[in-house]
Amino acid sequence: MTVQYKFPEGFWWGSAASATQTEGAANKDGKGKNIWDYWYETEPNRFYEGVGPETTSDFYHHYKEDIQLMKEIGHNTFRLSISWSRLIPGGRGEVNHEAVKFYNNVIDELIANGIEPFVNLYHFDMPYELQEEGGWESRSVVDAYTMYAREAFRLFGDRVSKWFTFNEPIVPVEGGYLYDFHYPNIVDGRRAVQVAYHTMIAHAQAVEAFRASGMRDGKIGIILNLTPSYPRSQHPADIKASRIADLFFNRSFLDPAVLGEYPEELIEILKEYGQLPITENGDKELVKANTVDILGVNYYQPRRVKAKEHLPNPYSPFMPDWFFDNYEMPGRKMNPYRGWEIYEKGIYDIMINLKENYGNIESFVSENGMGVQDEARFLENGEIQDDYRIEFIQGHLKWLHKSIQEGCNAKGYHLWTFMDNWSWMNGYKNRYGFFSVDLETKKRTPKKSAHWIKEVSENNGF
Ligand code: NOJ
Repeated sequence: MTVQYKFPEGFWWGSAASATQTEGAANKDGKGKNIWDYWYETEPNRFYEGVGPETTSDFYHHYKEDIQLMKEIGHNTFRLSISWSRLIPGGRGEVNHEAVKFYNNVIDELIANGIEPFVNLYHFDMPYELQEEGGWESRSVVDAYTMYAREAFRLFGDRVSKWFTFNEPIVPVEGGYLYDFHYPNIVDGRRAVQVAYHTMIAHAQAVEAFRASGMRDGKIGIILNLTPSYPRSQHPADIKASRIADLFFNRSFLDPAVLGEYPEELIEILKEYGQLPITENGDKELVKANTVDILGVNYYQPRRVKAKEHLPNPYSPFMPDWFFDNYEMPGRKMNPYRGWEIYEKGIYDIMINLKENYGNIESFVSENGMGVQDEARFLENGEIQDDYRIEFIQGHLKWLHKSIQEGCNAKGYHLWTFMDNWSWMNGYKNRYGFFSVDLETKKRTPKKSAHWIKEVSENNGF
C-alpha cells in the first residue's frame, strides 16, 4: 500500500463497543437489571424482530478470542464500557466480585496484547432500581453514579489511564424524555432539560472524584456525538434555527464539559420558555472546576436545519421556534443501506471548531461508522465484501487527516464497531462491525474492511 495519508506517530487505531450491546450474560454472575433488561421484559414488541439485550455476541465469554482478533487487525486501543448494574447490582452498595473479575480479565488481556483500554462509565444503561427512583431526574441518583465512578477508578485505575464519564449523553435525553425511543418513554421538555443538566452534574462530580483519586497519568473525558448543524438555506430564520439546534444538541454538553460553563444564549432561551432546570448551590463552581482533559467525538451525520414552517412542531415538544429535517434535502449523499446522510467533511468542521473555539482540546474520533441493513447480501466466498464501509472510513479519515495537518489536536480513530452488535430498539437491523457474528454459533468472521484496516493501522495511514 502506498501511503498518501500518513497519520502522526502513535495514532490510536481501534474500535468502540458498549457493555449492553456486546456482553450478553445479562442475568449471569450476579448482574443486576438495567433499564434495557426491564424494558425488553415488559415490551418485547418495541424491539426490532423482538430481539432483546440478552442476544449478543457474548463478549462476556468470548473476550479472549475477540482481543486476539483486535490484535490481528492492528488495534492499539479499544473502548469498552463498564456495566453499572453488573459492577454494582441495584446501582449502589456492594461491588459484585464476579464483575470485578470479568473487567479485570478484559483490561489485563487487552494490555497484555498491546491494546490500550479506553473505559467509559455510562452507555445508556441505568440500573433499573435507580430508574425507579427517578433516574437522572433525581439528584440522589447523580450521587449514586459518583460513587460508582469512584469505585471504578479505585478498582481499575491502576491500569486504565483513559476514562470517560458518559457516551452521548444527549441520546438518553432525546430517547427517554423527548422522542420515545428509550425507556422511560417520557415526552416532556422540562424533564428532559433536568435530565440533561443532572447528567452534566454527575459528569463533573465524577471528574472531581477522578482528580481526587490521584490516578497515575490518567486522563478523563466525555464522549459526545457532535452533530454539526448546517442551515438549509441562508434565510436568517434557518440560520437562527441551526444555531439553536447547535446550542441544544451540541453545546449544552460541549461547553460545560470543555469550557466549564453553559452558553448564555442557551440559558436565555430556557428562561424564555420557563424551562430552566432545578440547580443547587455550588453547581456552577463544580462545573467550572472540572473540565475534561480529553474529548471523544462520535460522528455519523450532520443535522440540516430549517426554521419551522408548520404548527405545531412535530419534532420538538419543547422548542417551538424551529425544527430540523434530515429527510428531504436534494443532492445529499446518503447511505443507501440505512438512510443516514454521509457527509465526510463534517468531521473536519468539528475538529476545526474544537481548535478555534475550545482551546484545541485533545480529542479523537471515538465513533464513526456505517450501518447496513441485510448485510448478508454482500457475502461472497464466505466473507462480506464491504467496500462501501472501506470507502466510508477512507472518506472520513481524509478529512480527519486534513484537520490534523492544519493543527487540530486529533489523536485517533475508532470505528463503531468491532463486531456486529445489538443496537437498542433496532436489535441487529443495522450491522456496523469489522467482523460479522453468527448469533447461533457465536462465530466471528472478518469482513473485507477488517483486512483493510489491518493494513491501514500497520502503515499508520493509507
Ligand atoms: C452511537 C452509540 O454510542 C451506539 O451505542 C450506537 O449503537 C451507535 N451510535 C450506532 O447507532
